[in-house]
Amino acid sequence: MPDVRVRPGECHVWTARAVSVSSGLVALLDAAERRVYESFLRERDRSLYLTAHALLRLVLAEALDRDPARLVFAAGPHGKPYVEDASVEFSLTHSGERVAVAVASGAPVGVDVERVPEPAAELPLPVLSPAERVVYDRVPEPERAAAFTAYWVRKEAVLKATGEGLRVDPARLTVSAPDRPAELLGWRGREKAVQPHPPVRLYDLDAGEGYRGAVALLGPAHRIVRHDGGGVLRRPRRAADGDPGASSARC
Ligand SMILES: CC(C)(COP(=O)(O)OP(=O)(O)OC[C@H]1O[C@@H](n2cnc3c(N)ncnc32)[C@H](O)[C@@H]1OP(=O)(O)O)[C@@H](O)C(=O)NCCC(=O)NCCS
Repeated sequence: MPDVRVRPGECHVWTARAVSVSSGLVALLDAAERRVYESFLRERDRSLYLTAHALLRLVLAEALDRDPARLVFAAGPHGKPYVEDASVEFSLTHSGERVAVAVASGAPVGVDVERVPEPAAELPLPVLSPAERVVYDRVPEPERAAAFTAYWVRKEAVLKATGEGLRVDPARLTVSAPDRPAELLGWRGREKAVQPHPPVRLYDLDAGEGYRGAVALLGPAHRIVRHDGGGVLRRPRRAADGDPGASSARC
């Protein structure tokens, strides 16, 4: 019996900090993942990748009642991964020292977490739409990096849900202001909002201090159920006995 049931209308999200590369989780990776893992020169990049992919395997294995090491992934035309022989919808993200995995049933999902850059960092402001830029320009200087990151994760979550990723210019999308509830307000060129996808639902995701996160779902409104991914990573082979780390809330 799986630990976590992802029911229709629910989106489960696990967040975790990067774990040590000596954690033994490497055994869960397949040959392709191991090649990517070993290609990273810096240990922190290896550990972030390992954490994300091990967590993804563990939570999908729980949801599908499978062996985590035997899940076979493939990628869509623009790189969105899927499980070859299951219809589960999922998305993963890694940034800084954080990872997040979102799993939904029946609705394509995208999750994005990004570390807020240093205040002096040069930000790629052309990804903002004209309407977003008007709001952004009014944000006090010390809050701009966080505001930009909030815009960015909302847009990227949508583009990861559709699977198009950065093949679509993020400036085409207009999302709500960082201090407003997450919402997709417009998509230049897709004003009719019917094709190629159903309604876009956006939710903010608390990814910890210094980070911003968002989850997008294509379809009806979803209940977001948060989990402690660290607990899953620490107990990779535990027997099915419920999930004490689960909490249910709009995040
Ligand atoms: C998807 C994308 C927005 C990720 O941006 P990012 O901020 O660098 O990375 P994140 O950590 O948030 O997400 C990375 C994960 O998204 C997933 N992903 C990759 N392509 C994706 C897509 N088109 N749609 C949704 N998810 C995708 C993968 O699981 C990836 O994890 P991995 O790199 O460890 O395998 C960006 O890589 C992109 O636009 N890719 C598609 C376009 C492209 O260049 N494709 C090349 C292959 S055709």
